[in-house]
Amino acid sequence: MIETIKEHLAEVEKFASTSKEEIEAFRIKYLGKKGLLNSFFAEFKNVPNDQKKEFGQVINELKNSATDKVNVLKEALESQVEEGKYGDLTRPGEPMEIGARHPISIVKNRIIDIFSRIGFNVSEGPEIEDDWHNFTALNLPEYHPARDMQDTFFIQTDPDILLRTHTSSVQVRYMESHKPPIRTISPGRVYRNEAISARSHCFFHQVEGLYVDKNVSFADLKQTLQYFTSEMFGKSKIRLRPSYFPFTEPSAEVDVYWGLETETDYRMTKGTGWLEIMGCGMVDPNVLKNCGIDPEVYSGFAFGMGIDRIALLLHQISDIRLLSENDVRFLEQFKSAL
Ligand code: PHE
Repeated sequence: MIETIKEHLAEVEKFASTSKEEIEAFRIKYLGKKGLLNSFFAEFKNVPNDQKKEFGQVINELKNSATDKVNVLKEALESQVEEGKYGDLTRPGEPMEIGARHPISIVKNRIIDIFSRIGFNVSEGPEIEDDWHNFTALNLPEYHPARDMQDTFFIQTDPDILLRTHTSSVQVRYMESHKPPIRTISPGRVYRNEAISARSHCFFHQVEGLYVDKNVSFADLKQTLQYFTSEMFGKSKIRLRPSYFPFTEPSAEVDVYWGLETETDYRMTKGTGWLEIMGCGMVDPNVLKNCGIDPEVYSGFAFGMGIDRIALLLHQISDIRLLSENDVRFLEQFKSAL
């Protein structure tokens, strides 16, 4: 009997397997309820007394050996499954798909970069505005006809709460909370109730700029704009056409000379070579006063441009609606852009 157990012991020590089923069968054979070990233990009472000690020792040895074996093999099996789960950990990684910035962000970041080089910081404000910051402080009192220049989405009336129609509202907030010298640009989304077409949408994006200090002149404005157009478009020939904005006096539209070299130039500039890119002017003294700045001491200039139109221009996008559709096939095309 003892010899048989010793043979089993040798067999147990030799056993190896990576199959779950085989390991389980091995466990049942030795350690199961009707397994060999239990039958050996049952034999114990029939063993002559002088052999009991040795018999007891070998079955205990067999039991420990079989239990250890099952545990070791099961552990190995599990860690193999783990490994399988993560694949071959030494394999080189898959190249990661790189995303693209939205063309609006690309253009906005470039504009911010250009103005930050001449000392402008970035200011932001709420898209939901009150009447004061969007209109009244900007020299557009109630019933002023110029309010119709920008069709407004109202959220609530009396008191009026609305979606800002320009980021000039941010400039008002900035002047209310900062003392001159002020050099800030305000990028952001603005809303106007316009018929949606290939060229216009009910929301778009602006960057407006504001400079307030002692002795700021129209010449400073012109020089700043020229710097901007040459950095942004590589074109420094600009012209200022007299215009009207309630918050600036005098006011002007800025055209940049794009040229007439290609067919696209003809189409974009309607055969003139000139492109209108923004509005600007000297901040109306009333606006400075409304914002707590003494117009007798300080003067300033302001300008505002639409980012969407510039993005269409620079990336030759034919329809403004593409900018808000979030079609990945469209967005992916901007991977190589900054
Ligand atoms: N706020 C004007 C607009 O939205 C743009 C502008 C800003 C014009 C500053 C002049 C000065 O159309």
